[in-house]
Amino acid sequence: MSHQSIFKDESKLDINYLPNRILHRDRENRLLMEFFSFLTSCPDRMSQRVLVIGEVGTGKTAICQAFGKNISIEVGKKGTKFRYIHVNCREYRGNLTQILHQAVTVFQQHFPARGYSTGEILNTFLQILEEEQVFVILALDEFDSLIEKEGSDAVYALTRLYETQHEKPQRISFIFIQRNLTPLKVLDDSAQSTLQRNIISLERYTKDPLIDILNDRVKLAFEIATVPEDVVELIAELATTELGNARFAIELLWRSGKYATAQDAERIEPEYVRQAISAIIPTIKRSELCGLGLHEKMLLLAIARFFKENKEAFSTLADIEEIYAVICEEYDEIPYSHTQLWKYIQRFAHIGIVKTKVGSAATRGRSTMISLPTIPAQELEIELYTMFKLERR
Ligand SMILES: Nc1ncnc2c1ncn2[C@@H]1O[C@H](COP(=O)(O)OP(=O)(O)OP(=O)(O)O)[C@@H](O)[C@H]1O
Ligand SMILES: [Mg+2]
Repeated sequence: MSHQSIFKDESKLDINYLPNRILHRDRENRLLMEFFSFLTSCPDRMSQRVLVIGEVGTGKTAICQAFGKNISIEVGKKGTKFRYIHVNCREYRGNLTQILHQAVTVFQQHFPARGYSTGEILNTFLQILEEEQVFVILALDEFDSLIEKEGSDAVYALTRLYETQHEKPQRISFIFIQRNLTPLKVLDDSAQSTLQRNIISLERYTKDPLIDILNDRVKLAFEIATVPEDVVELIAELATTELGNARFAIELLWRSGKYATAQDAERIEPEYVRQAISAIIPTIKRSELCGLGLHEKMLLLAIARFFKENKEAFSTLADIEEIYAVICEEYDEIPYSHTQLWKYIQRFAHIGIVKTKVGSAATRGRSTMISLPTIPAQELEIELYTMFKLERR
């Protein structure tokens, strides 16, 4: 039986998609607006430089681009000519001439890519801005690649553009974007301090913001009721351990959808998430499983069976214990006590096979919930069976 795709619009999960709604970054967005508020009141009196930092996938690019849209509208309302220009420096391997060329083509589409030195193209850019009477924010994303390629001199040139031209309005402001402050260390003290005057630092996302970001994207990208709540929670949890990386979360959501579709499923189930993630991150460490005792292995087998047969992302220890008791019977073993099993679960959590959390009051009281976040249940089951067989020989 073949189902319709669970995707409604996959492009909403594309890495280049710019969401209309940026969630949980109000403070940072307001700070950006504040730093650049002069553009709406007295654009010709000053210019600004802001440094935006944050780990991978914390939304630096998305936030700046969304800000660029908003500020363009606000400044436009005042009748000022303005452009927000976003260039990813890494795309041009940090080459300042090419980066500036990119900025020039915003105004002169067919400007020749070759034959100009950095200084010439910079002057051309300034000249165009003057002729067109336009103000710009130049956002240099992945700025570290520019520092690496061009060093102090280039940064110096950029940050002191107007020092010799006091009579003219300063038409260029900058947003520098990079993951952390380390790349700045190679610059001389004055360049460093100039860059660090206005810093906006994006913290890693914790689980709840990631859930909101995912849910927003689920609505746009998937058919209704194809992505259950606990699947979103599972993905958010996995992304939390990946540095709170929203890109990782969105990619995992997309990939899980792909695995579900490939298996003709009507919705994403936790097993598809596990398949998706084990395709990204190698999961079972065989040596760790080998080190476990017989009852630990039987308990783990019970966990594998539970998640193979259930579509929920979380189980209680009581659920697992029931299956464990059946397995003990199969192998002619007397089941261990609840307390002992609990200790095993904690050990599994410690070596990263399972995860535990305290259940939300709404669902199952405050008992501890167990999830198998990264290993496909089926794979784990097969792995354990093989071990049992080998051991019995
Ligand atoms: N607050 C948010 N609201 C909605 N979507 C977000 C938010 N933060 C990040 N995203 C989405 O997560 C993904 C990663 O964000 P983004 O590319 O901006 O990260 P980044 O900090 O620039 O990462 P990198 O350091 O790798 O360049 C993008 O698809 C972006 O749209
Ligand atoms: Mg980025």
